[in-house]
Amino acid sequence: MTYSRITGTGRFLPEKVLTNFDLEKIVDTTDEWIRTRTGVERRHCVAEDQTTSDMCVEAAKVAMESAGVRPADIDMVIIGTTSPDLIFPNVATLVQHRLGIPACTAFSLEAACTGFIYALTTADKFIKAGESKRALVIGAECITKLVDWSDRNTCVLFGDGAGAVILEQSDEQGIIGCHLGADGQYKDLLYYPVGASKDLAKAGTDEASIMMSGKDVFKVAVSTLGNVASKALESAGVSQDELDWLIPHQANLRIIQATAKRLNLPMEKVILTVQDHGNTSAASVPMALDVGVRDGRIKRDQMILMEAFGGGFTWGSVLMRF
Ligand code: ACO
Repeated sequence: MTYSRITGTGRFLPEKVLTNFDLEKIVDTTDEWIRTRTGVERRHCVAEDQTTSDMCVEAAKVAMESAGVRPADIDMVIIGTTSPDLIFPNVATLVQHRLGIPACTAFSLEAACTGFIYALTTADKFIKAGESKRALVIGAECITKLVDWSDRNTCVLFGDGAGAVILEQSDEQGIIGCHLGADGQYKDLLYYPVGASKDLAKAGTDEASIMMSGKDVFKVAVSTLGNVASKALESAGVSQDELDWLIPHQANLRIIQATAKRLNLPMEKVILTVQDHGNTSAASVPMALDVGVRDGRIKRDQMILMEAFGGGFTWGSVLMRF
């Protein structure tokens, strides 16, 4: 039996930190409002000349070192992101080249906050089909470059970063089950109104900013994430008690608490980074995984459920032994 298994993790966070108190000086908000509504206390923001590929390269170097692999050992790069450097070439090709990884399958995919879960699921399929032996999988976002810094409804939520993993073919069990979903009927609840084939001229103007119906997003996120988590466990025949860690998308502490409650999981078993990172979209799950691994909480062979939800809506989960 061929499995795919994570053998290394890494993350990169930009140097600049914006606290809630900093935001009090930019928009009409308070630290207290942001903390109680979202759980966010601070977030990292890219510098003007910093790009998604810059962050990916740094996170990947750390993941490669922790897996003990060299660029030449990697045969596939997949990056989940909503904020690539360019419309083309895709950001995975930029990262492949900058890391000195030999020519290989390299692509990015866009599934909003679920981007990493989609990317990891895709890499798992390639490995189990025997078409890749060792993949570099990244979730990365420069989401603060899309934020309207005069809109208090959204600017307090987001942050930047990149999280990377090395996923390898293995004889030992790693990824047990992946479940992806999407439903475009919710497209108007959370979107960015500019793309390569639509209103590109509005990019960089006041007319281009993240549009979000916060309360509706909240409600669908809570019910969908609860269902996704239960489905992942049920279809693998794994009980809640066997779970060592839940690594949820870090959008909002209250969404995370509600999901943990539905799973009957104490918050001590949830890796939380939302307070320090904000919502980093596709980067949030792999960065939280890396935080848990590096501070020693997540150990080899533990049972982990990762899950995410984002614009589209898209959603997904990965159940694995680490
Ligand atoms: N500071 C102070 N007041 C604010 C702020 C702010 N930063 N933002 C909004 N308010 C005000 C609103 O204007 C509103 O005022 P009003 O009643 O006078 O009109 C009031 O606070 C309440 O606003 P609500 O939108 O009702 O606040 P709510 O309790 O729903 O919290 C929030 C808003 C945090 C956005 C919440 O709905 C939420 O987290 N939704 C989930 C959305 C999410 O996570 N999006 C991230 C991307 S999607 C994803 O990753 C899943």
